[in-house]
Amino acid sequence: MENHASSGTDDRNFLWGVSSSAFQIEGYIENDMTEWERGGYFKQNGKDPKYLNAVNHWNLWKNDFQLLKALGINSYRLSFEWSRIEPEPGHFDEKALDKYERMIDRLIEMNIRPMLTLHHFTHPLWFHTETPWTEETAIQSFIRFAEKILQKIGHKITHFITLNEPVVWALAAYGDARFPPGEKNLEKMADVLKNMLLAHREVFHLIKKYNSGAKVGIADNFIIFKPSREWNLLDRGISYLIHRFYNLGLLDAFHRNRLNVVFPFLIHFREELELQDAIDFWGINYYYRMHVRFRLNWKQPMELQFLNRSGEGLSDMGWENYSHGLWQVMTWVKNTGKPFIITENGIADRQDRQRVKFLEKHLKIVQKALDSGFPIEGYFHWSLMDNYEWLEGRSAKFGLYAVDDQDGMKRKLRTSGRFYSDYIKKHRAI
Ligand code: BGC
Repeated sequence: MENHASSGTDDRNFLWGVSSSAFQIEGYIENDMTEWERGGYFKQNGKDPKYLNAVNHWNLWKNDFQLLKALGINSYRLSFEWSRIEPEPGHFDEKALDKYERMIDRLIEMNIRPMLTLHHFTHPLWFHTETPWTEETAIQSFIRFAEKILQKIGHKITHFITLNEPVVWALAAYGDARFPPGEKNLEKMADVLKNMLLAHREVFHLIKKYNSGAKVGIADNFIIFKPSREWNLLDRGISYLIHRFYNLGLLDAFHRNRLNVVFPFLIHFREELELQDAIDFWGINYYYRMHVRFRLNWKQPMELQFLNRSGEGLSDMGWENYSHGLWQVMTWVKNTGKPFIITENGIADRQDRQRVKFLEKHLKIVQKALDSGFPIEGYFHWSLMDNYEWLEGRSAKFGLYAVDDQDGMKRKLRTSGRFYSDYIKKHRAI
């Protein structure tokens, strides 16, 4: 294992980047999400996000890559859209693949290392009926898709993320039915997680066949769950149970070769999984803290709240900024013995009033981790530019660049974008 203790942020290998995902920026995509929206299923709590071709990155990518360059980053996390590449099962669109290859080549020419996510929430239209994640056949589908990409560009990529936030996706698609295919079935949700992890394992080994030097990880989402009333044993007990599943579930699955999805009275799923240590690094996606409160309500025994108890403010989405949480998350992940990369961290802040502070506070924690010898290998801000934010549509503004959808999708650097750029330039190797 490398000695990370000496690696300050002037380490040449430290990845300074921004993150995105294909569906959230590209536009002109037909997949399970667009079908879901057209079917009217997204309408939840009065929300009706409109995809509206995201921010047209599919046509503006060359321009957008100049924006990356201007930031001074040395790495860019992007994903490929499965529905473009494999519109019919086993039939691949070579033109789409060629275009993705041109993107990768361009990044490399610009000295920006691509970090490629293979699965970021979306699926081709055929997927949930032909090979849903509840079935083992999904594993073969994912391998087939991954292999097609690997044949083309596998040797050009140094960092792969097989899955983005499998727990978040499984919960949204099979827990509370916010995402397609929209079922509420916790047993199925556990099977989905199991199959996703097995698919990850297979693709991990496949990647090594095409590029033995590539590093392969999973981007996992972490939330700080704080008992709302410290003195209340029930608040504490419930916080712990959610934390154990949500934050430690995947880390433990790899550590113990066993997946536990256990929540009293709701689900009791334990299964041996031969994950064989098939992970080189953990991706940490960290945004916020939540306060957990027990309620005397059989159907909904807990309440999750955002409160500005940190004093760091609430984002436009109501999320509580809590920078110390990033430190806590890093300590949990560090215990796995694996290196990690912050693969997402950001804030919805339309007016750009909070983002500089948010960055300052979180980057300070990153610096502290480096100084303390944590095995941290990169920081990626979410996101390069405003984009399509799932349930919120384009109303949530996460971008270092603002995108003006009233004016030809023009991109404009925010003050916080300038701040991040200056920070990186100061901390990167000269
Ligand atoms: C997801 C992104 C999303 C971001 C902000 C992460 O959970 O990976 O796709 O846009 O959070 O909500």
